[in-house]
Amino acid sequence: MRRGLFVTFEGSEGCGKSTQIRLLASWLRERGHEAVLTREPGGTPAGDAIRQLLQHAPEGHGLVPEAELFLFAASRAQLVREVVRPALAADRVVISDRFHDSTAVYQGVARCLDPAMTRMVNGYAVGETVPDVTFLLDMDAREAFGRLHRREGGRDRMESEPLAFYEAVRDGYCRAAEAEPDRFAVLDATLSETELSGCIRDILLDRFHGFFSR
Ligand code: TMP
Repeated sequence: MRRGLFVTFEGSEGCGKSTQIRLLASWLRERGHEAVLTREPGGTPAGDAIRQLLQHAPEGHGLVPEAELFLFAASRAQLVREVVRPALAADRVVISDRFHDSTAVYQGVARCLDPAMTRMVNGYAVGETVPDVTFLLDMDAREAFGRLHRREGGRDRMESEPLAFYEAVRDGYCRAAEAEPDRFAVLDATLSETELSGCIRDILLDRFHGFFSR
């Protein structure tokens, strides 16, 4: 039986998800909740191998969008059953850096796969396990693109797309958030780290006061 809280973060590369996840986890820890942190693709040994193939391995370079869809879904199906469901059943807070919305947006919109097929594969991978809240760190595509290109270190296969790809990603996220306003919380990713983390805490306390006052 599900009793915990499932929180996901979405947004383009460079939008600041990892920083906000770290800040949220430490705030939760202060309140006595040791969060389970995970990321996609990855989060399990099998998922990490899939991540390596998708992002870094030379064998992944020729992957077609349809194959990508199934690889992301395979990683997610494993994560849901190996990590997310047991943690939620144990009353934990699970925070995932990306989840099924990434597939809907990156594969279903930016890679132009059939949205109905994307939804079906996504649905099969996650079943009933959908996030309680999804924080979308929204940023202008040009800004996201610029941040990505200014970042230290090389870019992986998924990060080597042209600006038009990031414009489609942003558009896809905005449409996903409009379609499910009760689940999504859209935040301006250009706010300061402190302002953003404050908004995130306020939204959690407001939407899930029952959970936090247990
Ligand atoms: P990240 O480590 O920056 O989150 O990178 C993951 C990359 O994989 C990013 O470019 C988004 C992409 N991605 C998809 O295309 N579909 C998915 O379902 C997921 C989870 C990620």
